[in-house]
Amino acid sequence: FLSLRWFKYTSRAIQRGDYTSIFASVMTQLIHTTPNADRNTLYTELLPQIKHLIQGEPSLIANMANVASVLYHTLRFHWVGFYLVEENELVLGPFHGPVACTRIARGKGVCGHAWVENKTTNVPDVEAFPGHIACSALSRSELVVPVRKNNHVIAVLDIDSTRINDFHEHDVAFFKALSQ
Ligand code: SME
Repeated sequence: FLSLRWFKYTSRAIQRGDYTSIFASVMTQLIHTTPNADRNTLYTELLPQIKHLIQGEPSLIANMANVASVLYHTLRFHWVGFYLVEENELVLGPFHGPVACTRIARGKGVCGHAWVENKTTNVPDVEAFPGHIACSALSRSELVVPVRKNNHVIAVLDIDSTRINDFHEHDVAFFKALSQ
């Protein structure tokens, strides 16, 4: 069933050749979000749907891939993805956005910091963070949330924004809730 609102939104996106919006409109048929809603509204709408989406699927990679896709296409961040802990480094996992660095040494960059400190790390200005790894020159602020299993960090969820100081309390709360 296609709603009139969805049809209009998609037609306009097709006319503009805006492929991100076209994809997003298809996604919103599976993940229902209010078009042009603010981020807080989207967070409230997304959390139960993402939990439902990954429920019952035991593959971590498959779930990370779907989560990265949903977050990227609904929230429109510059880069959303996971780095997986593998021995003494982080290795690139499922993501959406520009090509990224494949390996990050223990403790390096914002991701390595969040892993080693086992702490959500909100960086309002990446240029002011010592050791920030610039996978993309367009990233201005970044939020990294540890993903834990049995109290051990097994991965980190990394969200990059092209806007400076883009992450605040409600963003942190949403991504922390999601990573649990
Ligand atoms: N900026 C990150 C590296 C990963 S990319 O942003 C995708 C860091 O400093 O750890």
